[in-house]
Order: sequence, then structure tokens, then C-alpha cells
Amino acid sequence: MSNSTKDTSRLNRCGWSSFRPQLFLNEPGRKSRDLGSAFIRLLKDYSKGKRILELCCGAGKLLIQLARQGYDVVGLDLSRKMLEVCRREVEKEPESVRKRIRLVWEDMCTFELKETYHFIILEDDGFGYLLTQEEQLACLRRVGMHLSSPGLFFLSCKTPDLELACQGSYEYDPLLQIKKEACKWDTIDEHGNKRTVEEGFERRKLTYPCELELLLEIAGLEALHR
Ligand SMILES: C[S@@+](CC[C@H](N)C(=O)[O-])C[C@H]1O[C@@H](n2cnc3c(N)ncnc32)[C@H](O)[C@@H]1O
Repeated sequence: MSNSTKDTSRLNRCGWSSFRPQLFLNEPGRKSRDLGSAFIRLLKDYSKGKRILELCCGAGKLLIQLARQGYDVVGLDLSRKMLEVCRREVEKEPESVRKRIRLVWEDMCTFELKETYHFIILEDDGFGYLLTQEEQLACLRRVGMHLSSPGLFFLSCKTPDLELACQGSYEYDPLLQIKKEACKWDTIDEHGNKRTVEEGFERRKLTYPCELELLLEIAGLEALHR
């Protein structure tokens, strides 16, 4: 990671600079979240090679699991705070795993990594943090530029119908399809007591499947499985 400055205004708009990584990462649901084995099966079945890029890698839980299985992984994130947490996690790994992981401080709409990848991952609704169609398209185009031939892109994002049915208090702008929510974090103190901390906000754009189809097509990506 270089020390140069970077435009992080997208993080401010979606709210990612408004809360502490530790609150997010210590959420009980987040701590027990384990995607490693599912992705490893997926990669074994579909990936034509070992070079993987994860956009919005956060603290790198998935990244590290993939590197342990012999994949060469690049983790990209725009939050220096999250990448710092990730770097500390990577440092706990043996040299054989560490050498397979590279972290880059970049924006998923503008990155230019000068290499291609057999598999690119954007899961956990990272796509939702792109608040306009221009940004969504810019990101998908960047993905297209960085895919090997053949190469695959895995994207998981939330649709308005399912997301808005979830309980909780939020503001929703139906024209822009943007949901804004104050964040509440469940924490467990040293005595095992649960406490809820209110801190920060999150803004995400919800995308209908038919819009996504169109965006993928415009970006020159072909949808294989939905
Ligand atoms: C939900 S977290 C990812 C957590 C990760 N999946 C994990 O399990 O640790 C979303 C991440 O997206 C990153 N992010 C948001 N907007 C971004 C952008 N425009 N470019 C790159 N990363 C971005 C945030 O910094 C944050 O680390």
C-alpha cells in the first residue's frame, strides 16, 4: 500500500468512514460468518486458475481462507482502517500463506492493477455502496478490464423487495433506491453481557435483478448463473 492520498469521498457517502471497524467485526453474526468452504467449492468447480481478486475485502476473512488453500489473492478496499485490520490478520499467518496475499488501497470504481484475475469476487453487498448507476457501471467495467479470458465474476447484492421487508428503522428513497440506516451494533462485554451501541450510518443502493442484467450487458459482462 502506498502512502499517497486518495479520494475517499465514496466511503463518506455510503457511511463507511462513520463507524469503527472493530464494532462491525465484533458483531456476533459477523464473527461466526464463514464463507471459505462455499467459495473454495465454487472456485474448484468454476475457476480456470488461481489468481483471485476480492473487491471490498474488508478485514480479509475470506481472502485469508482462500490463500490458505493455495490461491493467490489480492484484496482491494478503500478504507485504510479496514485494510489495517486486514494486514494485522494476514501477519498472523505463516509465510507460505502471507506471500500469497497482496492488499491494495483502491476504489472499486477506478482501480487499475495491471494484471488480470481468473476470478473476481464482490460479495456481502459491497455493490450496494455504489450509490449511482454511473458508479455501478464504472465498477463493472473495471471488473471486465481485470478478468482473464476466461474469467469469472461473482457478485452478490441485495434487491429492494427482500431488503425492505427486513425489520428495522430506515429511510428509503424510492427514486434513487437508496436505503439509509443508523447502525446499531451488538457487543458482548467481558462479563458476557450484551450491549447495543449506536454509531454511524450506512447508505446502500438496492438494485433490481432486471437493472443488474442491463448494467452487466452494458459493461460487456455475460450473466452465466443467477
Ligand atoms: C461489508 S464490508 C466487507 C466486509 C468483508 N466482506 C468481511 O467479511 O470482512 C464492506 C467494505 O467495502 C469497502 N468499500 C466501500 N466502498 C468502497 C469502494 N468504493 N471501493 C472499495 N471498497 C469500498 C469498505 O471499506 C468495507 O471494508
